[in-house]
This record gives sequence, C-alpha cells and structure tokens, in this order.
Amino acid sequence: MSVEKEKGRLTTRTVAMPGDTNPAGDIFGGWVVSQMDIAAGICAGQRAQSRVVTVALDSMSFIRPVKVGDILGVYTCIESVGRTSMNIHVEAWVRRGRIGKREKVTEGLFKFVAINDEGNSTPIPAEEDLPDYVHEAMNEF
Ligand SMILES: CC(C)(COP(=O)(O)OP(=O)(O)OC[C@H]1O[C@@H](n2cnc3c(N)ncnc32)[C@H](O)[C@@H]1OP(=O)(O)O)[C@@H](O)C(=O)NCCC(=O)NCCS
Repeated sequence: MSVEKEKGRLTTRTVAMPGDTNPAGDIFGGWVVSQMDIAAGICAGQRAQSRVVTVALDSMSFIRPVKVGDILGVYTCIESVGRTSMNIHVEAWVRRGRIGKREKVTEGLFKFVAINDEGNSTPIPAEEDLPDYVHEAMNEF
C-alpha cells in the first residue's frame, strides 16, 4: 500500500482556532484558502524577488474538513513560470489535534503575477540569475 506524501516544501504552519469556524463548528473554507494564498505568495515572492499578487485560482479541492486544534501545514512548489506569472501548486495537510494522524485536506493551483512599485506586471528573473542566498532561502523558509 502506497502512503501519500506531500508535494512541495513546507512553507507555513499554524493552528486552526475556534475563531476560524463556520456555523457548523468546522473550520471555514475561506480561512484555509487564505492560509494557502499566504504560503503561495511567500513561494512566488521568493522566486520573483519582487511584490506579487494573486491573479487566478485555477483549481481548488476541499478533500477533508479541518477541525479546531488541528495543525495546518501548507506545502508549495512552483509548477511553471511564464514571463511575469507563476503557477504555484499548494497542498494543505493537517496533524489532527496537534499529535494525531496526518491527512491532506486541500490542494489547489494558484497563479501569481510579479508586479513593480506601480502595480504593473514585471518580468520574472531567470532561475540561473538568482543569487545563491535566494536559492538557499527558497530551500529553507
Ligand atoms: C495582476 C495584474 C497586475 C495583471 O495585469 P495585466 O494588465 O493583465 O498584465 P499583463 O497583461 O501584463 O499580464 C500579466 C500576466 O498575468 C497573466 N494574467 C493576467 N490576467 C490573468 C487572469 N485573469 N488569469 C490568468 N492569468 C492572467 C497573463 O497571462 C500574463 O502572464 P505572463 O506574463 O506569464 O505571460 C492585474 O490583473 C491586477 O492587478 N489584478 C489584481 C490582483 C490582485 O489585487 N490580487 C489580489 C486579489 S484580492
């Protein structure tokens, strides 16, 4: 039996709190999407070395619910890079009740655009032109 593994690098971790619930008592989907958007923005900003904005959410699957007290870990990886845009694959996994089972709860494809100080799209540098410290940061946090 194959065990599913997370795809990408652990980019953020947080705990789902009672204030993040929907009326039924589970965690509100919008909160989870927000955590994924934050992590994808970190990933995209490090690659682009500039400000970035979310321009599209091309797919989003809610696989299992998130519960209060779960640790939510968001994993990101760069799927493709265009002239000014990047597709970031994002997965959110939980550790149930801090110490329980690990499960994938959501996955999605976020598209970000690199922007300049005027808010206009700006080219993403070639990967080989990125300085060593950027490569190190992208592999750590
Ligand atoms: C992102 C933004 C600067 C792009 O402006 P634009 O005038 O469309 O820019 P461009 O035409 O140069 O397109 C830039 C890139 O974005 C892509 N793009 C633009 N709109 C897109 C859309 N709706 N869906 C997918 N990709 C899109 C283009 O394909 C292009 O990619 P490439 O350079 O890799 O080929 C502008 O749409 C914007 O500011 N949007 C709001 C972003 C935002 O506020 N996000 C937070 C949401 S609360």
